[in-house]
Amino acid sequence: MTRAPRNLFVTTALPYANGPFHIGHIMEYIQADIWVRFQRMQGHKVHFVCADDAHGAPIMLKAEAEGITPEALVARIAAERPKYLDGFHIAFDNWYSTHSPENVELSQAIYQALVAEGLIYKEPVEQFFDPVKNMFLADRYIKGECPKCGAKDQFGDACEVCGSVYSPTDLRNPYSTLSGATPVRKTSEHFFFRLSDPRCVQFLEQWLDTPGRLQPAVANKAREWLTGKGEQQLADWDISRDAPYFGIPIPDAPGKYFYVWLDAPVGYLASLKHYFSSGKARANGELRSFDEFLAAPDVEQIHFIGKDIIYFHTLFWPAMLRFAGRKGPDHVFVHGFITVSGAKMSKSRGTGISPLRYLDLGMNPEWLRYYIAAKLNSNVEDIDFNPDDFVARVNSDLVGKYVNIASRCAGFIAKRFEGRLGRVPRVDARAYFKQQAEEDDAAHGRHAEGRDGDQRDMVAAFQNEARFVREAYEQREFGQALRLIMRLADVANRYIADKAPWEIAKDPARSAELHEICTLALNLFRLLTVMLKPVTPALAAKVEQFLGIAPLTWDDVDILLPEGHAIHPYEHLLQRVDPKQLEALFDNGGNGSAPSKPAAAPAAAASGQTTAEVSIEDFAKLDLRIARIVAAELVEGADKLLRLTLDVGDGERTVFAGIRAAYAPETLVGRLTVVLANLKPRKMRFGLSEGMVLAAGPGGKDIFLLSPDAGATPGMKVK
Ligand code: MSP
Ligand code: ZN
Repeated sequence: MTRAPRNLFVTTALPYANGPFHIGHIMEYIQADIWVRFQRMQGHKVHFVCADDAHGAPIMLKAEAEGITPEALVARIAAERPKYLDGFHIAFDNWYSTHSPENVELSQAIYQALVAEGLIYKEPVEQFFDPVKNMFLADRYIKGECPKCGAKDQFGDACEVCGSVYSPTDLRNPYSTLSGATPVRKTSEHFFFRLSDPRCVQFLEQWLDTPGRLQPAVANKAREWLTGKGEQQLADWDISRDAPYFGIPIPDAPGKYFYVWLDAPVGYLASLKHYFSSGKARANGELRSFDEFLAAPDVEQIHFIGKDIIYFHTLFWPAMLRFAGRKGPDHVFVHGFITVSGAKMSKSRGTGISPLRYLDLGMNPEWLRYYIAAKLNSNVEDIDFNPDDFVARVNSDLVGKYVNIASRCAGFIAKRFEGRLGRVPRVDARAYFKQQAEEDDAAHGRHAEGRDGDQRDMVAAFQNEARFVREAYEQREFGQALRLIMRLADVANRYIADKAPWEIAKDPARSAELHEICTLALNLFRLLTVMLKPVTPALAAKVEQFLGIAPLTWDDVDILLPEGHAIHPYEHLLQRVDPKQLEALFDNGGNGSAPSKPAAAPAAAASGQTTAEVSIEDFAKLDLRIARIVAAELVEGADKLLRLTLDVGDGERTVFAGIRAAYAPETLVGRLTVVLANLKPRKMRFGLSEGMVLAAGPGGKDIFLLSPDAGATPGMKVK
């Protein structure tokens, strides 16, 4: 560790609690989670929290439309969150809600501090009011005829037909989209945060200019808003809404609520407060109180957000905190949007990829983590999910390059050296890196980013590169980090191909050489695992288990596995992506392009895909066992069946299986599979079938018999 541990308070934007997560949310969480895991591997302390953004008119109205309370709606959405978060290995320390006592207390306290500073004032505002629903109408709930071209059903801000821009009160024959009623103009008192106050402007100018605080593009954008061009002066901020509203009451102002965007960022603090009061912060090693922690100069407060909410996070939020006498954010890290096959996703309709469907299809969450990481950099750039690219990247990089190193060398260690590693040889790395650089140049038509052409030792070269990988992660240049890592994987594979351990293994006299080659390869594999771990934590855990080592931290880069270290037998680490899975993923979710069915895609995928739940007791009724196929024969008169004789531990039995199109009988003899042994015997024309062998796939040639890992024996219970 080169520096003292940092204390990081990290958040992602609080998602609106009116719908399930879409791929944009998951992308944000993956970005933040990788960074957080990376920091933890550096030995830093991270407190990573989020919450549902529960308030506002849309949630109130959606609940009303469903005939439930907003609380019930929010609770239902909250109950779905863990499936996604656990599913994609997003390791928040706390998930909470803005509809919470902590948030009420904090929001009201911050507001009152702003009142005391003289930064809040009241002013009457005339707005459209729905006389049927008895509520003021936000612009998006008003439609009417364009004042310029007369087009019908235009929204209150701009005409989609002629493109002219206007305000809702300019619409001709306006109507409320909630009730259809003609809105009336009505005045009511609103509360404003005086952002135009010179103190605020001055503070924000200096806040935005603090070097290293924001990405340059973000700071520029915010500065533009702040200084304003001509009439676009920074306006004061309307922070109140009239009842009925689902939100936090403004103190001493009956019928007035905070606008959702006032209490939403305070929700970051509310979640943190709950994290402290529930004892989780203490369990995570933070012994200070919530208030001490939040005010402590050594604590870095960092928000990951998307580009659409920069305004709130770089102007309102820092100013609110500052003039309430609190510490503000240290960094706001902004990312672009994810598109799917080039198509923008709409906030309400989601996109072609339902994250839940992805998981339900059994697709590996770390494929997505890897793919998104490979596309991310520290700029505010949109990234695109492209299915073909996804398959190619995951299969060629993660499986073809990284996992391949272990799968090619581990077997020799197990079979020839009793699972023990040997000495790590010194291997001159220069030739391999040079070849790699030449190949990269040829492939990319440019000079490779290598710095290690002069490393005489392979291990040292990897360790040296790890420093650049670390810097890339720190800067959120994840794509760059993964390019460096995969280049190292290429070099390792080049070394293995050059040495060809499978050839050396044929000559018993070269045993020591074989041992060294495989030992070096596995050590390099371990170093790559350290570097990939922020992105693929579950895969790294499998590798740790396989290598028989404690959880890897970044410091492990400096260490090698000692001679004699015992590893476990290699088990398959990562499946390739099957392009068929992607077809299935897009199959039902659509491209989000069915406007007639708003928001249907994610919901349908969420409920339609899984079969009914069973209890563990239901499952226990099945006598699933390992069976050895002792004989397999064609069945005369049945061109789909094979007659299998199975050793099921306590004797032999016959099972007829419809797998003839997929398997030649002689290929099955001797292999292990799984049988449902207590299936009611079935009398067939050819004899009695006493069970069922288990297989995956749609049928015909596409049938895949299950097999256990090495070590299982006939009769073993599958549970
Ligand atoms: N509730 C507010 C945030 C309050 S923070 C105090 C909100 N919610 S949201 O659900 O609409 O968006 C949550 C986050 O998802 C935001 O950071 C937003 O930028 C991000 N994304 C929404 N769509 C996205 C993509 N298509 N791609 C990437 N991120 C996207 O805004
Ligand atoms: Zn028009």
